[in-house]
Amino acid sequence: MRIFLDTANIEHIRHGVRMGVVTGVTTNPTIISREGKVDYQGLVKEICSIVSGPVSTEVLSQDAKGMIAEAREMAKWAKNVVIKIPASLEGLEATSVLAGENIKVNLTLCFTLNQAVLGTAAEAAFISPFVGRLDDIGEDGMEVVAGIVEYLDYYEMSTQVIAASIRHPQHCLMAARAGAHIATIPYEVLLDMMRHPLTDSGIQRFQDDWNKVMAK
Ligand code: E4P
Repeated sequence: MRIFLDTANIEHIRHGVRMGVVTGVTTNPTIISREGKVDYQGLVKEICSIVSGPVSTEVLSQDAKGMIAEAREMAKWAKNVVIKIPASLEGLEATSVLAGENIKVNLTLCFTLNQAVLGTAAEAAFISPFVGRLDDIGEDGMEVVAGIVEYLDYYEMSTQVIAASIRHPQHCLMAARAGAHIATIPYEVLLDMMRHPLTDSGIQRFQDDWNKVMAK
């Protein structure tokens, strides 16, 4: 499973890339707004220069015509830009037009297998089921991920599943077990994935044992 960062924070993205584990980034209007009143295009271009893989940036229009116009502009920003389009009826229409122009779409705000079935039919390159938000309302977000993966495998489709709205390391484990191609995760979750108290105490013990004898 590939790891994307769900952030627009440049330092966090650089750190993820330095560790050799982050190959893509997803953003949305909320994530961008966390960075303050920024130059949107400039920020996305900078992110695209840091990571080699897909960088998702989301349209704000709600009608297909507006989404398509925004997407065409954003697609010029960098070659690894992917356009996030919401899983609405207007979004489907925009997705199929953009796919026909070889502009990659990440169908976002996906909450059901049916939305994913239609998104793949409209030729979205990526589908993003939102796990945490489904869990929040008492549904099983990971079951939706697993169902979409099973569907894509059965029909041998090339669309990739991005497990999104990830809240904790357990979600990452479950996404990997469900066969998600990608998990897009907050920076703090990435750090938590690597933490273990026995690793920390183990490092300390090796250091202490070495110093007891060798540093004398
Ligand atoms: C994914 O692409 C979205 O940006 C993100 O995962 C949404 O997560 P949230 O539910 O924590 O806002």
